[in-house]
Amino acid sequence: MSLPLARRRPVTALAVCAATLALTASAVAAPEPVAASPAAVLPYQDPSAPVPDRVSDLLARMTLDDKLGQMTQIEKDALVPQSDLAAYRIGSVLSGGDSTVSPNNAQTWADTYDALQRTALTTPLGIPVIYGIDAVHGHNAVRGATLFPHNIGLGATRDPALVQRIGRAVAEEVSGTGIDWDFAPCLCVARDDRWGRTYESYGETPELPSSLTTFITGLQGEPLGEGPAPVLATAKHYLGDGGTAGGVDQGDTRLSEAELRAVHLPPFKEAVRRGVGAVMLSYSSWNGVRSHANRYLVTDLLKGELGFGGFVVSDWAAVDQLDGQSGFTGAEITTAVNAGVDMVMVPHDYKKFLTLLRGEVAAGRIAQSRIDDANRRILTKKFQLGLFERPFTDRSYTSTVGSAAHRELARQAVRASQVLLKNEGGVLPLPKSAKLFVAGKSADDIGNQSGGWTVGWQGRSGPVTDGTTVLEGIRAAVTDPSRVTYDRYGNGIDSSYRAAVAVVGETPYAEGRGDRPGGLGLDQEDLQTLARLRASGVPVVVVLVSGRPLDVSGRLPDWTALLAAWLPGTEGAGVSDVLFGDYAPTGKLPVSWPRTSSQEPVNDGDGKDPLFPYGYGLTYSGAGPTSPPAPGACTARFRTASSWQGGYQAEVTVENTGSTALTGWSVDWDLGGSRVTSLWNGSLTTAGGRATVRDAAFNGSLRPGDTTTFGFTAEGTAGTPAPHCAGS
Ligand code: GLC
Repeated sequence: MSLPLARRRPVTALAVCAATLALTASAVAAPEPVAASPAAVLPYQDPSAPVPDRVSDLLARMTLDDKLGQMTQIEKDALVPQSDLAAYRIGSVLSGGDSTVSPNNAQTWADTYDALQRTALTTPLGIPVIYGIDAVHGHNAVRGATLFPHNIGLGATRDPALVQRIGRAVAEEVSGTGIDWDFAPCLCVARDDRWGRTYESYGETPELPSSLTTFITGLQGEPLGEGPAPVLATAKHYLGDGGTAGGVDQGDTRLSEAELRAVHLPPFKEAVRRGVGAVMLSYSSWNGVRSHANRYLVTDLLKGELGFGGFVVSDWAAVDQLDGQSGFTGAEITTAVNAGVDMVMVPHDYKKFLTLLRGEVAAGRIAQSRIDDANRRILTKKFQLGLFERPFTDRSYTSTVGSAAHRELARQAVRASQVLLKNEGGVLPLPKSAKLFVAGKSADDIGNQSGGWTVGWQGRSGPVTDGTTVLEGIRAAVTDPSRVTYDRYGNGIDSSYRAAVAVVGETPYAEGRGDRPGGLGLDQEDLQTLARLRASGVPVVVVLVSGRPLDVSGRLPDWTALLAAWLPGTEGAGVSDVLFGDYAPTGKLPVSWPRTSSQEPVNDGDGKDPLFPYGYGLTYSGAGPTSPPAPGACTARFRTASSWQGGYQAEVTVENTGSTALTGWSVDWDLGGSRVTSLWNGSLTTAGGRATVRDAAFNGSLRPGDTTTFGFTAEGTAGTPAPHCAGS
């Protein structure tokens, strides 16, 4: 019996009641029932006591079964009967990608959560359960929730404050369904865009994901639990998931320790500094050793050197993979727990798991001190979250799910995430009075624009949830919607239109199912649609809805404009805001854009020559509500170093003529028909007959008066270009 509390509010006197334990003989020996104390407030139940004291008092009262249960996380749908939650003392429940409730709405999720919590509180010590879910771009399991751009789009915003506000909004919607733990943010550093989880990464450099760990602060509050509706954040997937060879999901990251530390560790270091409550391990391996078995990475580096005080959770059934056989064994459990895993996402056979785990402890292969350390970490976060005092849903947040305020924030994030890559003749922004043709499989498809992890693990095309498609945004923006014609395949286009907007790209996917080792080209439907539009002679504006850069260089000459929209989520009007100039594009590439798929991996500063470099992004000339930061003052002087029949070598000297240091610069000039064949000390992109060279990461900043030089060889004649320099 437990207090019939209708909502998450202070539980002043926790009713502790004796429970008859229905444990099977093969599982564990039933501990002695604990005498009830009708309204006693034991030290661990005293919210005014220091958390470490509460943890120590509770730990001292716990049986081994209590402790092993706290280390066990199971899928909601695997809990049969629900009373097993108490009988086996299970400490955590999750909803995996396809776990849902019916009807799928915030109210039902909250009711489901509260029912589980009421069961958990019937245990002798009344330790509340902590419930985790993947809210990776909003509360995406819940139909009707606000879906923000996936992380790759947020990386394009370069806006840590915006991402923190998004974390807060997500915390409100997640709390409104009772759930207390978000398996986000992914702090993966995506180094090969063929990886199916590239869109879950904020970007390809360690600096960008590190800067956007502000999501953690938004989600948890600062410190954890302070402020309303705190939700535990999870830095994932530790370590090196975005660096596997060939971008193979769950593959092997083959790097020296120095490279691993330089590229993949910084975001986790920043997350720990921000007080992230949990870290989820990666399925992937480092030089052949699986992260879930790597004591050096998990215990020595993460918990020791970085001082991580939260708890480590395994990934879904990741322990099963350690011996290369299906299912899990006691030996695999021991390997993972002794490596530093504190909570195991089993996620189904909890009886077998607990039997094996208890057997490993009894045999002395897992020390009691390791069990106590894991429990101390888990209980500390439960206390800091306020779960003991507020175990049930705060229904005052349920109405925030899909609220107008959150959708407006999401629309702002969509605007800021758009990256303009080509804009020939200034075809953008489009006049709102223009006669427009809209085409493409993703123009009117909220499922495509939301991508994976949307009301289901893999997501899917179609009207999967509530929101605004790109086409609906366009129709709402123009002065006369009857002048907007839509045909998915481009049928009916003719030369009477001012422009054709083709919204094309990828259909939803998640994890390994999104791996594309065979290439990143557009699919046949898109190519046929684009050909139809091209044949009309009307300027074609391509809006790419995709989880990563795609192989477009062969088609780019046929397109008048190209806008990378990434996976914008439910607020497609944010894309039309940019198309019509209500918001000038400010997005910058979070990943290098390859010339072809075979160029992968291509990353900032690796000396390769991508189609568009990391950090590239155009805007509109003239005022817009948000124009990019004023460029720093710099000049570029062009010198032909040598020339020969049909070619030449040139050097360009960049000088900081301003009064502040430049952290970056770009130089662009008209190629005049020549073609750059090689370049050093910068990263080149060419588009529309112009060359743009940006500083390479290793250039560092340029002090006032300082100069730096890049050089190149080219086919053709040098001419006397007047290079334009812009600094930032
Ligand atoms: C998945 C993912 C992980 C997610 C977990 C729970 O396999 O790798 O990112 O948090 O399982 O859904």
